[in-house]
Amino acid sequence: MMRIAQEKNLAEIVLVNLRDFATDTYRTIDDYPFGGGAGMIMKPEPIFKAVESVRQDNSHVILLSPQGRQFNQDVANELAKKEHLILICGRYKGVDNRVNEHLVNDEISIGDYVLSGGEAAALVLLESTLRLMEGAVTDKESVETDSFMQGLLDAPYYTRPADFRGYKVPEVLISGHHQKVKEWRQEQALKLTKEKRPDLLKSKVKMKEIKFKECGGRNGKRKKS
Ligand code: ADE
Repeated sequence: MMRIAQEKNLAEIVLVNLRDFATDTYRTIDDYPFGGGAGMIMKPEPIFKAVESVRQDNSHVILLSPQGRQFNQDVANELAKKEHLILICGRYKGVDNRVNEHLVNDEISIGDYVLSGGEAAALVLLESTLRLMEGAVTDKESVETDSFMQGLLDAPYYTRPADFRGYKVPEVLISGHHQKVKEWRQEQALKLTKEKRPDLLKSKVKMKEIKFKECGGRNGKRKKS
């Protein structure tokens, strides 16, 4: 996806090496923490200078860190609308807190676990954000029905053959009845989410469920309009 986005000129990805902004001959970018303690801390100066070398008026500066707000599809949607992102990948024990206080607009975590560095987190963020950009994925509907886009998991999918070793594809999918297929997918998405990720069924989704029932999901009564 990152290659496609770049080839289609939808995004330009520039890598900046913090060591190029170190001031000493050893190109040091970390140091011992004031007050003691285990682990090294990333120095503020190379990070400030590196960000300042690429920052524009429209930049959104993100620090990848386990302390950040939790990354999810809503955040990916939000970031896909930004014109210019700067992702700072921390290493070692953490970064000097003046980076958080005076340089970044946003701190993002990809989950409640600690990585050795923010690089893998930055890739996760880029991969999911770039595919949401207009033109990155040729089939727009495919993105709209993705898991999490409606706050639900996506419905299950099948392809040919319709009968594989006696395991059959649900009848409705080969019926050619588009409305019924749509309803079945909605129903399955809800069922799957209830089974596998009930935590996703928060107020926003419950509203959708109510709406779906009102307009006559498979077991509901269809309202005449
Ligand atoms: N850096 C280290 N752990 C991280 C996490 N969980 N998310 C984002 N950046 C990180």
